[in-house]
Amino acid sequence: MTDLAAQTFHADPRLQQARRLIAEVLNDAQQALDGVRPADPDKADAYQAQLDAFAKLRGGALPIPYLGSGLGNGPLVELLDGSVKYDMICGIGVHGLGHSDSGLIDAGLDGAFGDAVMQGNLQQNAESAALCEDLVERACRFGAKLEHCFLTTSGSMANDNALKIVFQKHAPADRIMAFSHCFTGRTLAQASVTDKAAYRDGLPESVKVGYLPFFKPDDKAKSIDSTLKHLDNHLARYAGRVAGVMFEMIQGEGGYQAGDAGFFRAVMSRCKEHGLAVWVDEIQSFGRTSKPFAFQHYGLDDLVDVVSVGKMTQVCATLFTGDYNPRPGLISQTFTGASSQIFAAREVLKRLDERGVFGEDGLNMQARRRFADLLHAIHQRHPDKLGEALFGEGSMIGFEVFGGDPKQTKTVMDKLYELGVIAFVCGADPLRLRFLPPVAVLRDGDAEAVCGLLERALVVAAG
Ligand SMILES: Cc1ncc(COP(=O)(O)O)c(C=O)c1O
Repeated sequence: MTDLAAQTFHADPRLQQARRLIAEVLNDAQQALDGVRPADPDKADAYQAQLDAFAKLRGGALPIPYLGSGLGNGPLVELLDGSVKYDMICGIGVHGLGHSDSGLIDAGLDGAFGDAVMQGNLQQNAESAALCEDLVERACRFGAKLEHCFLTTSGSMANDNALKIVFQKHAPADRIMAFSHCFTGRTLAQASVTDKAAYRDGLPESVKVGYLPFFKPDDKAKSIDSTLKHLDNHLARYAGRVAGVMFEMIQGEGGYQAGDAGFFRAVMSRCKEHGLAVWVDEIQSFGRTSKPFAFQHYGLDDLVDVVSVGKMTQVCATLFTGDYNPRPGLISQTFTGASSQIFAAREVLKRLDERGVFGEDGLNMQARRRFADLLHAIHQRHPDKLGEALFGEGSMIGFEVFGGDPKQTKTVMDKLYELGVIAFVCGADPLRLRFLPPVAVLRDGDAEAVCGLLERALVVAAG
């Protein structure tokens, strides 16, 4: 059999040599990024001018004053102001392997050596199919029947595809249900599903949504009972009109409020009794708990119909069971992902497994325990500044400073940023701080260094 020209190209030793050289150069440059470094005062004016110009172009300031230099080293990232910071938010959970990971740069080269920048409905290479297979294998690892996978470029689009799949299957039902304080994205449809008034300000209602109370940990039985009552009442009020329920199991934007296995099982089982779709949004929770998916962490494999992923997966996707396979024409994308993204996605998935991120004693759960201990110690020294409770689940780590006061919380976030740690807020009132650390590349001492800076930021913010 004759080799394809592509095989000859990829096997050329000069390409392998080029890769080795790039890896060496990268490694040399990264040696300079070995710890937190303050901003360079000589760069301050130019940096501010760049931020201002960007704000003018995009019509508003960036949420944090972050302009990256394009180089990092694991959890550390260099910014154009010359500072080096611990990135504990990672683009809200996107950079699961941290910054300038050599495996991801190599995957980027695989993408760059491909024939096209983008892949999509009429332009799929073998790696797109391989990525779908990787995602399906992980989704079905503990018994779920999510045998189909459709790729796309944003979490919101993965959710729009999920919503369409759910509606088509349950037509003519024209309503869905979700939980109070959920966040599902920014398209017109997801702005209707997301439970935040400011995010749909001025927009028409595009999907009819009923909201259920989310899990309240103080009284589990009461919480289950109350949510089931709301569900039953809504279904009685809109008989035959509700297509499914959307579950964001560990609420991200909503304040790192985590659910509970028994709660989800009770509500999902009731959905099944009523013939409703169980749609799970795992865009922030994928890769963050003891299993690849949070629905697996909570042991709900037998109950899920449609699942959306994004962020850490680099390429976003909607996974669904055979029952939910939509009719041709319903979903299609010009772009299902850039070639480099697709190779990067496969590398991330492989490395999460190889590094031992999952399991009860995997890196996610270990990071949670480590941060819990460190935060608890700060709480004991400063009970007035840092609350005792830890929010989120796995390596989605949320905590409350100054009783969740929004102004003081933002001040702590800003001080922390200045000192060298990038974090972000979640929730509203109380506002909370969240960390999404890149656990696969955290080194000994990183969590301690980050929490040391947090303690300093709290003291400075208190004045
Ligand atoms: C739970 C959840 N769903 C959906 C989205 C939307 O994803 P994207 O911003 O990629 O459209 C996000 C993003 O923050 C999210 O956290």
